[in-house]
Amino acid sequence: MGDKLRCAVIGAGAIGLEHINSLTHCARAACVAVAELNPRRGKEACDRFKIARLYADYLELLDQPDIDAVIVALPNHLHAPVTLSALQARKHVLVEKPMALNAREGARMVAAAEKMKRTLMVAQNFRFNQHTQIARHFLQRGEAGEIYHGRCFWLRRQGIPRIGSWFTRKELAGGGCAADIGVHLLDATLHLMGEFEAVSVSAVTHARFGPRGLGDFEWGRSEIDPLKPFTVEDFASAFIRLKSGRCLTLESSWAAHHAADAREYGIDLLGTTAGLSLFPARLYRPGPLGYDSTLLSLPKTSFQEDRTHHFVQAVLDNKPTLVPMGESLKVQQILDALYESARQGREVRLNPKP
Ligand SMILES: NC(=O)c1ccc[n+]([C@@H]2O[C@H](COP(=O)([O-])OP(=O)(O)OC[C@H]3O[C@@H](n4cnc5c(N)ncnc54)[C@H](O)[C@@H]3O)[C@@H](O)[C@H]2O)c1
Repeated sequence: MGDKLRCAVIGAGAIGLEHINSLTHCARAACVAVAELNPRRGKEACDRFKIARLYADYLELLDQPDIDAVIVALPNHLHAPVTLSALQARKHVLVEKPMALNAREGARMVAAAEKMKRTLMVAQNFRFNQHTQIARHFLQRGEAGEIYHGRCFWLRRQGIPRIGSWFTRKELAGGGCAADIGVHLLDATLHLMGEFEAVSVSAVTHARFGPRGLGDFEWGRSEIDPLKPFTVEDFASAFIRLKSGRCLTLESSWAAHHAADAREYGIDLLGTTAGLSLFPARLYRPGPLGYDSTLLSLPKTSFQEDRTHHFVQAVLDNKPTLVPMGESLKVQQILDALYESARQGREVRLNPKP
């Protein structure tokens, strides 16, 4: 491997373009190729970012020996198969969230990365948000005391990423709003609580807007098929019990009648000496003149906000990433339990790891 990490992006859809853009602004990386099934989208991306090589077949891209790492920016059902092929081809992999369709697939990805001694990171960009990093810094300094409860939510009023696209089909997406946007807040909250071991999940899901053709939102670049049924949830609520005895709640919606002035997404952590909430990062504690609310900050140089750049650095410097793959697998296990609990209509226990 030279001074620069030679990267390729697989999938030039909405998020693939963001990754290509990040790579072109990364001093330590070069974006040398793109794989995209749709020829028009692939050509547009290559023309716009001046990338010489475009492949229709990602397997052909993976055969190229001069590519060190790939970014998998594909519909969720392709995360596992493409990541496994990439690791087999000895590439480092940055894969989009959610990790996979389920934890069975996720476990195979982790095992393959370990076997091939390659970096595998899930692109959980909320961990890279400066407010998350600031909050983590203050929590680690003990500013809130012991955190004993977490609450997180992402509640869109009208945000189904295009009804009829792969996002709204269970077999292609794995799940709806919980797997798509809830996973960001779930991951960030567990990261801040410093615990990923869950023992049980009790959840409900609803599909109240999508099946009526309501709540649509312009996102993503893939084709839509209006005749395909909407088979995922557009609302989910979960109560997650952690091994330490602490709990967190997660609520997510792609579409719902929420109060217009409410925060759309956030995290609230309750500590023994203070409360911490995001976004932005604030600390709440009693002061001499009543309750103080302090906006937390750190110098700009204290954090890395670009997940793509972070991945490049971690690979080149052979360092652990901010998103260990074992933690991503545990998040995927919680998502699986959430859907299983909703299906069964009762609390389900997570299988303890042998
Ligand atoms: N981190 C984030 O904030 C964030 C935001 C949005 C989406 N995502 C994730 O990124 C992934 C992609 O989402 P998107 O919104 O970009 O979707 P999208 O539908 O806009 O793009 C997917 C692209 O993959 C291409 N594709 C499909 N099969 C292919 C194949 N076999 N080979 C090559 N290309 C193929 C499609 O033609 C399309 O251009 C999803 O996993 C999604 O959950 C992450």
